[in-house]
Amino acid sequence: MQLPYFCFNMPKKVEIYKAEFIISAPNLIQCPKGDISEYAFIGRSNVGKSSLINMLTNRKDLAKTSSTPGKTQLINYYLINHDWYMVDLPGYGWAKVGKKQKQQWSKNVREYLLKRKSLTILFILVDIRLNPQDMDIEFINWAGEKEIPIALIFTKADKLSKNKVTGSVNGYKKHLKNFWEELPAIFISSSETRQGREEILEYISRINNMMSTIK
Ligand code: GTP
Ligand code: MG
Repeated sequence: MQLPYFCFNMPKKVEIYKAEFIISAPNLIQCPKGDISEYAFIGRSNVGKSSLINMLTNRKDLAKTSSTPGKTQLINYYLINHDWYMVDLPGYGWAKVGKKQKQQWSKNVREYLLKRKSLTILFILVDIRLNPQDMDIEFINWAGEKEIPIALIFTKADKLSKNKVTGSVNGYKKHLKNFWEELPAIFISSSETRQGREEILEYISRINNMMSTIK
């Protein structure tokens, strides 16, 4: 039997037609009014957060990138399609800053993560080339304990062969299953080849649609 055309769950093409820088906030108090959904990107310094935001928005220099870890130090807001925010967060594990600055950073980011009501999904980025690192696993588990909604994005997939990408993701999943009953959503990305762009944007779009039906 042939199904009517509306039964097919066609993937929705998501377009970003506008991406504007709004503010770099040093802390939660200075973040914009939290009246729209926001999707934040976090992960170790240099993992590729800012590059991913540029890739997703089709913009070369919207978020500042650097080969030197520690480029992003503030909570950076980008308004997408006049409708929702992408938030570029500073990376954790940046060795070159002093202890005091690190403590201040983690205090500000922690407060943002724990209290920002409009934070819809926290995307945690991990470098696909590395075995599960304690620092990432501890952070992922901490976010889980605090009931922060997360999704994982593996970055720099262009740097590995297809087989190694699969092996790395499977190894990661197996490791996470030691701590998680049900795994969060997982994406594989490359800012070089644009791998993962449609999947990530589609995921955000589905959640945005869900949120607007709840409101
Ligand atoms: P901080 O702001 O310092 O925390 O770093 P970040 O996570 O924002 O990383 P950023 O986007 O600045 O990228 C760090 C370096 O990795 C840069 O040299 C990028 O060009 C490179 N890079 C990022 N994503 C990819 C990727 O998908 N593939 C490859 N090959 N290089 C990437
Ligand atoms: Mg950055």
